[in-house]
Amino acid sequence: MSNDYDYLVKCLVIGDSGTGKSSLMMRFTDDVFNTGYISTIGVDFKIKTMDFRDKTIKFQIWDTAGQDRFRTITASYYRGSNAVLLCYDITDKNTFRNIHKWLEEVKKFTVGNPLLILCGTKVDLEEKRIVSYEEAEEYAKANNMHFFESSAKINSNIKEIFELIAKNKITMLCTMIDTFDKSNRKNINLQPSNKNENNISCC
Ligand code: GTP
Ligand code: MG
Repeated sequence: MSNDYDYLVKCLVIGDSGTGKSSLMMRFTDDVFNTGYISTIGVDFKIKTMDFRDKTIKFQIWDTAGQDRFRTITASYYRGSNAVLLCYDITDKNTFRNIHKWLEEVKKFTVGNPLLILCGTKVDLEEKRIVSYEEAEEYAKANNMHFFESSAKINSNIKEIFELIAKNKITMLCTMIDTFDKSNRKNINLQPSNKNENNISCC
């Protein structure tokens, strides 16, 4: 069976219960938003394909339960993630304070170097904001994370998060191909033809 995509990207969504992880995923995959709250049991999973530049990216999104009682189940889903979204609610300081706990989990359970994105959710609730943009941005910088504030409700900055992930995946693969090609050229001591140069310039 032929592939219907160019790149497969595995994303993991983590953060405290109620921060809006499922809502963020549902807005991206199905373009819906529910005001009701059904807490995730264990792990949920969705697929979404998106065209980015001239490539088709298939996102595999793993939406984990924020509740502590599911921590041992969700731990096994970190492996192989290309990107991890760490969510906090801009109206709830505790969820921001707990980001360091989630970062510890990332360090403990991920393999390789996934792209880390700190995501402040519910930005439509500006009048209830407790966590400032600047504070979170600084924290993200200090911990090598990208940073977004988003709202699943008003569909703000959701697509942009996944575009960043797609861009990063493509760039990373191109760098790997480039490095591999250069080291091969060096090892076998061949000058590249123009055709070969074209083949590697996929970015
Ligand atoms: P767990 O599954 O328990 O870990 O929670 P979760 O992080 O998946 O939260 P969920 O997406 O279920 O959202 C919790 C509540 O926040 C729901 O009532 C949502 O409607 C609400 N919510 C989520 N995103 C937003 C948002 O962008 N704006 C507003 N105003 N409410 C939101
Ligand atoms: Mg959920």
